[in-house]
Amino acid sequence: MENTGINTKFRFDHNRKVRNFMCGIIGYTGNKQVKDIVLDALTLLEYRGYDSAGMAVSVPEKPTKIIKCAGRVTDLRKLCESNEIEGTCGIGHTRWATHGGVSDENAHPHKSGKITVIHNGIIENYSELTRKYDLQDKLRSQTDTEVVAAVLAHHFTGDPFMAIVKTVSEIKGTFSLGILFEDNPDTIYAVRNVSPIVAAFCDTGALLASDVTALCKYTKEYFVLPELHVAELKPHKITVYDLNGKEVAPEYITMDWDVTQSEKNGYPFFMEKEIMEQPEAIRKTIMPRIRNNLPSFEADGIPDSLFTESKRICVVACGTAMHSGLVGKSLIQSMINIHVDVVLASEFMYTNPVIDEDTLVIAVSQSGETIDTLEALKFARKKGAKRLAIVNVKGSTITRECEQVIYTYAGPEIAVASTKAYTTQLAAFYLIACRMAYLKGTFDEEKAESFMRELQKVPAMMEKVLDRRDIIHKIARKLVNARDLFMIGRGLDYSTLLEGSLKLKEVSYIHSEAYASGELKHGTIALITEETPVIALVTQACIVLKEVSNIREVQARGARVFLLIKEEYASSVTDKFEESFTLPDMEDDFMVMPASVALQLIAYYVSLDKGLDVDKPRNLAKVVTVE
Ligand code: M6R
Repeated sequence: MENTGINTKFRFDHNRKVRNFMCGIIGYTGNKQVKDIVLDALTLLEYRGYDSAGMAVSVPEKPTKIIKCAGRVTDLRKLCESNEIEGTCGIGHTRWATHGGVSDENAHPHKSGKITVIHNGIIENYSELTRKYDLQDKLRSQTDTEVVAAVLAHHFTGDPFMAIVKTVSEIKGTFSLGILFEDNPDTIYAVRNVSPIVAAFCDTGALLASDVTALCKYTKEYFVLPELHVAELKPHKITVYDLNGKEVAPEYITMDWDVTQSEKNGYPFFMEKEIMEQPEAIRKTIMPRIRNNLPSFEADGIPDSLFTESKRICVVACGTAMHSGLVGKSLIQSMINIHVDVVLASEFMYTNPVIDEDTLVIAVSQSGETIDTLEALKFARKKGAKRLAIVNVKGSTITRECEQVIYTYAGPEIAVASTKAYTTQLAAFYLIACRMAYLKGTFDEEKAESFMRELQKVPAMMEKVLDRRDIIHKIARKLVNARDLFMIGRGLDYSTLLEGSLKLKEVSYIHSEAYASGELKHGTIALITEETPVIALVTQACIVLKEVSNIREVQARGARVFLLIKEEYASSVTDKFEESFTLPDMEDDFMVMPASVALQLIAYYVSLDKGLDVDKPRNLAKVVTVE
């Protein structure tokens, strides 16, 4: 490729704030029919966004065929059945709308002239470009993506690479683009800034995707397209160029997921399957990190100095991942007596965080792509903080923003509601807390070994909860008609309930609030009536008596209380409850694990019994790349 001579650098300020869509992208070129490959991949990628779907297939010497619609991938599948689609090279997209409403027209792909585009991201200067190229009356959709297609078409004079480079030099924002040029019917081009793209070979051709979930059926070796590089995928060759036209060798990564992990395997929903997979996921996450009965991050390449030299810890994360940080904070503060802040990544910048070279910033993320967490990390980098990621997806953007990574081995998590990713994040915090306590001398060897023995009991204790899930289902049946619900607890129980409550609201649409029991009297108890069921969690010796008093207070206001209690403490609470469930005994610090499984099951069964789409709750997407 010749040097393009185009200055593309000045357009991109990597430190500025970015926003983008949360869409799924797939591309295939090879010797198989592309339609089936695209539809299967879009089904797997649907968790990234599910308000519309579409595909484009190259047809030699004919216009590229586009099929798209508002709705789910199943709707697209039906459309494909009634249309003749033949071809071995094509691209597909599943959308979570932010720019332009949900409509057939706004669904991707978008075509202009001979160029067809799918896009994940946001083009910030789309209106400027619309004016510059006089596109006002020519665009059919309200999307910025169609503007990119038009700019590409404007610059295309026969050389796809040059058209891409010229377009990239003009657009501002975040993007991963999959592009078809009609004159090159066996080739897919891709380019990205911030938004991820992975690519790989398989037995029958070459693939690109927005994440590895779509690839694991076909291959284990893949690479992440570097930012501001162009990939050219042909059936037998993938070439990567920088924007000056210099060929770059991609760095291949081996994934440790297998195809069965991204299938339902007989379960009605991924959420149930993923809840059931937790004992195994915990084993996989902790066992490789136990050496001589002590926690070890040697295999992760993490030096002990990371833990011994940090004076403060700051956890940044969103949603469920943030809730794992709250548990991590309690553990680390009580075991090591070091200050830990847990900050919502989306609020991080606005809290004037006090971080410096002595601070260890721990970013927690299942996907490794959450934009707020990424932005918080970039801020931390500028302040000179050390950065450690706890992430599930290998090679994801957040892992590349951190010096050190602890991978959770949860395997692919497809349900939008996070379950096994959460408990494996917790497992990582137990390991970190114990390693730190041992290194800093607050735990001697014996105590650290005993802590690790207890951690290894977690999978079996989770199994005990899972085995009695019919009792939990009975509780859930009584909650199905609730409009509002409270979850109350103290200390670690309160942190556990924050996650349990998020789970319930996101999959069941019941308004659920987790409340620190002691805080109820300061206002919130005014909302308690016979219409508001209360779930109370009691697993910590130090709070049993106080918690029982708080439970009586809500019962006195008519609330039906559903009690989740550690078996050991059950006999000391003789009150009557609407329902109760005993959690298997572990040391108090570990009770968050079995309790979380019980709360996940409550959320799951309520959603199931309400007949909702458990895996794809309304308005949500699995990977949140919008600020
Ligand atoms: O991929 P991440 O862990 O960074 O995602 C963070 C949150 O978006 C995520 O945990 C979200 O809260 C889940 N849907 C909750 O179940």
